[in-house]
Amino acid sequence: MPKEVLNLEEASELLGVSTKTLLKILREAEVPARKIGREWRFYRQALLHWLASGNSLAYTSAAEQGVKDYFDQVAPSYHETRVQQYAKDFCDLIFAQVPLEPGMSVADIGCGTGYLTKALAERVAKVTGVDASTEMLAIARREMAQANLTNVELVNAEAAHLPFPTSSFDLVFASLLLHHISDPVEVLTEFHRVLKTNGQVVIVDVKEHQHHWVKTEKHDLWLGFSPAELAEWLQEAGFREERVQDLGCDCYTTNSQGRAAQIKMILATGRKPAT
Ligand SMILES: C[S@@+](CC[C@H](N)C(=O)[O-])C[C@H]1O[C@@H](n2cnc3c(N)ncnc32)[C@H](O)[C@@H]1O
Repeated sequence: MPKEVLNLEEASELLGVSTKTLLKILREAEVPARKIGREWRFYRQALLHWLASGNSLAYTSAAEQGVKDYFDQVAPSYHETRVQQYAKDFCDLIFAQVPLEPGMSVADIGCGTGYLTKALAERVAKVTGVDASTEMLAIARREMAQANLTNVELVNAEAAHLPFPTSSFDLVFASLLLHHISDPVEVLTEFHRVLKTNGQVVIVDVKEHQHHWVKTEKHDLWLGFSPAELAEWLQEAGFREERVQDLGCDCYTTNSQGRAAQIKMILATGRKPAT
């Protein structure tokens, strides 16, 4: 007889998703579940019924495919608004927290149209920009050529499966990427792999917010992050000396009805320790 009352791990197995993904779905969808103290409890029949009407696997994989398609479509307008909406302050505020050295080899994962990539390339020896969207990369390529930057390599790849050997980079940046990722710890673990010992990961993203429309209109999978969850995930991915703080500037976005959101930005860093 299968168990009727399931814990988080058992429910994840039944749904065919990781426990991280199930925790995300629990925050965002009407999953039949109860929280008793710190533990989640699920009823097999209720979950199977919910699956039949909603299908959680389609929910997660379609969501990630949607992100790529979305950025392929919006690449030209993304670039224009990105340049207008984020003042030069954005890069300066990051670089004030994360000192760069001229000889560094840096990766910018989810580089988009290359806003941060360009600023990095003006300051370090080599920058590798990675993005899942070929259209975003096409604009990044044009931007680097216009700026005569020859120390940038642009690569079409998935953040969770980077085509680089272990210990490749001194710094790994990810600006506004993580809220599009269904399993942030998986991606942070991949960042840890490609970093050299003592290398630093730098995550810039939005703080927790309640603008639910970004999920449907901007293909965000997370409504921002709390400092505590970012610190915990960095630890889980193997980083130490985690630091999470407000970046000191906001992210601006507008929906199709002209409704605007101004969301605080957060900066999280961690270091890959010697093993
Ligand atoms: C909001 S944009 C941020 C772009 C850039 N970092 C910036 O700050 O302007 C998010 C970028 O992440 C890319 N992206 C989303 N999911 C990805 C994934 N799983 N792997 C690689 N890139 C991804 C998107 O294609 C998009 O270019």
